[in-house]
Amino acid sequence: MVKIAVLISGSGSNLQSLIDNVRNGYINGEIKLVVSSSPSAYGLQRANDAGIKGLCIKDQNELLKTLKDENIDLIVLAGYLAIVSSEIIHEYHNRIINIHPSLIPSFCGKGFYGLHVHKAAMKRGVKVSGATVHFVSEEVDGGPIILQESIDVSDCDTPEMMQKKVLTIEHKILPKAVKLYCDNKLEVIDERVKIK
Ligand code: GAR
Repeated sequence: MVKIAVLISGSGSNLQSLIDNVRNGYINGEIKLVVSSSPSAYGLQRANDAGIKGLCIKDQNELLKTLKDENIDLIVLAGYLAIVSSEIIHEYHNRIINIHPSLIPSFCGKGFYGLHVHKAAMKRGVKVSGATVHFVSEEVDGGPIILQESIDVSDCDTPEMMQKKVLTIEHKILPKAVKLYCDNKLEVIDERVKIK
């Protein structure tokens, strides 16, 4: 059974979608640990409600030690707003999955997180947006793409509306990517992900 750590910083709605999909048997893995970069993240409450160990860890060395102590196989960044250290990225090469609320390479990279992404997309007047799940590399939002899905946002009048709509996609493709990983269906060849 793949042992998963989910890293969060906020509300944790993506964490919830993972908890639900482990519980209903869709994901063949176990969420052993939830780590938040902030002590007040609502996601820690969700972990507690689900009976999952939840910790607030800010120091990346302490984080790596905890991940190793818990024998974590896969790290999922679900709205984690801290920068993951190079040590962790190397130690968990192609074993860290991130969800990003846009169609990469649009509206991504440094400074593009959470509502900022949707503010920029709204300002540009995009009609279609979406979400991307990818492996994490040293380049921010630059690792191999696992899944993407688009959604019509032409009816959204505010960044908040767009965020809400894109989240419905996120809650679908993040569990799907984690399932594929746990079923050993993902292969990275020349920085491209092949689904076996
Ligand atoms: C999600 O929209 C996620 O894609 C985004 O933060 C939000 C967290 O929501 N992540 C990034 O912007 C990473 N660059 P949640 O706490 O409700 O899952």
